[in-house]
This record gives sequence, structure tokens and C-alpha cells, in this order.
Amino acid sequence: GAGAALAGKHVVITAGGTREPLDPVRFLGNRSSGKQGVALAHAALARGATVTLIAANLEVAPPTEVELRAVGSALELEVAVTAAAAVADVVIMAAAVADYRPVAARADKIKKDETGGTMLLELTRNPDILAGLARTKRSGQVLIGFAAETETDSVRLLELGREKMARKGCDFLVVNRVGWAEGFASDRNAITVLDHGGDIVCEASGSKLSVAGRILDLIT
Ligand code: C5P
Repeated sequence: GAGAALAGKHVVITAGGTREPLDPVRFLGNRSSGKQGVALAHAALARGATVTLIAANLEVAPPTEVELRAVGSALELEVAVTAAAAVADVVIMAAAVADYRPVAARADKIKKDETGGTMLLELTRNPDILAGLARTKRSGQVLIGFAAETETDSVRLLELGREKMARKGCDFLVVNRVGWAEGFASDRNAITVLDHGGDIVCEASGSKLSVAGRILDLIT
């Protein structure tokens, strides 16, 4: 059993995928199901932690024992996680956060142009929430990010992970492959975890719950 290795600890987990509004009825989204983040919440609860789950459009039910904060867009997620992180011992950014959002959400439903066959959308960068959390981290807080990549070459995948770690500055980065059939939708996952210096500290594959346990083992 996992025991109570995280008893008295406050763990904040973001899960799911953000939706960036285009107009009152449409959004730009991604295929994250929230399964890995929800598995992390289950695993943290099993270890005795108090868990805040910041849920962006989950496709799976979260555990009832968490403090749940539902968010839609990246900017909403940023507000919620920044507030929760101020009192957290551990922050895990498992959510797939949109890198860009429409410059402005239209007040009214966008009409199709009957004369043209194409349409241009102007996007603007979202803040890098994880990098921001790393800059304002409380001393002793453990910050974990994810790097979901479609790269099939495992050497190149690790390089991408190390580059991402350098940009983000978190304590651990969980690198995993995603694709049409793996990662987001699946009940299983395969991960490589890098520490702050880019060294491999864990390789695991299996159910998302077992992978969650291996990730939490790093902080306990
Ligand atoms: O840069 P990339 O999206 O690949 O980074 C993935 C990691 O950074 C994830 O932990 C994700 O939650 C986080 N992220 C973020 N803010 C963004 C984009 C991603 O915090 N705008």
C-alpha cells in the first residue's frame, strides 16, 4: 500500500485540456481526457494528501474527496492554479494547456462567409503558466510539469524534454509520447521523468494509476 507518505501535504493537480473560446458556441481545444491527472489525484489521496484538482473539461469523473475547481480556458486555469499554488506543497501541471488563444472571443456567433472557402483566425500566445509557477515557487514546494510530444525517436524525445525543462524550470518533468492512439485517450501511459538538471530519475509504463504512483514516489 501507499501508506500515508503525503499525510498533511497539500497537492494541487491540474488535469484535462483547456478550451479557448472563439465565440459563444465554439472553442479551440485538444484531446486531453484528464485521465492521467485524475489518476494522480486518486494516488495522492491514497497517500493521505489533501488534494485540490483544477479540472479543465474532464472526460472522466474526478474523485469525490478532492477540492474541485472547474476551469475552461488557459487564463482561467492560470488564475485558479496560481491561487491554489500559494498554499501548496506540491503542484502537478498535468493539464494540456493551449499555447495560443483567439485574440478576442467574439460576442456573437461567427457567421460563415458565403463568398470564400477559407477563413483566417488570429491567435495570441497564452502565458506559460508552469514557467510562471517556477519563478514564484515557495521554498520547499515541488513543481512537476508534463511534456507530451508526438516525437517517435526516443533520443530526440528526451532532447525535447531537456530543452523544455530548461525553459520551464520545474523540479521534475514527465515526458510522454502522445498521438492519435496513445497518451491522451488511453488508459495506459509510458513516461520518462527528468529532474531539474535533465537527468532521468524514473521510467515507468502501465496503467495511468500505476504511473501516477511512480511519479508521486519521486516526491516522498
Ligand atoms: O510547452 P508545453 O505546452 O509543451 O509544456 C507542457 C507543460 O507546460 C505542461 O505541464 C502544461 O501543463 C504546461 N503549460 C503551461 N502553460 C502553457 C502551456 C503549457 O503551464 N501555456
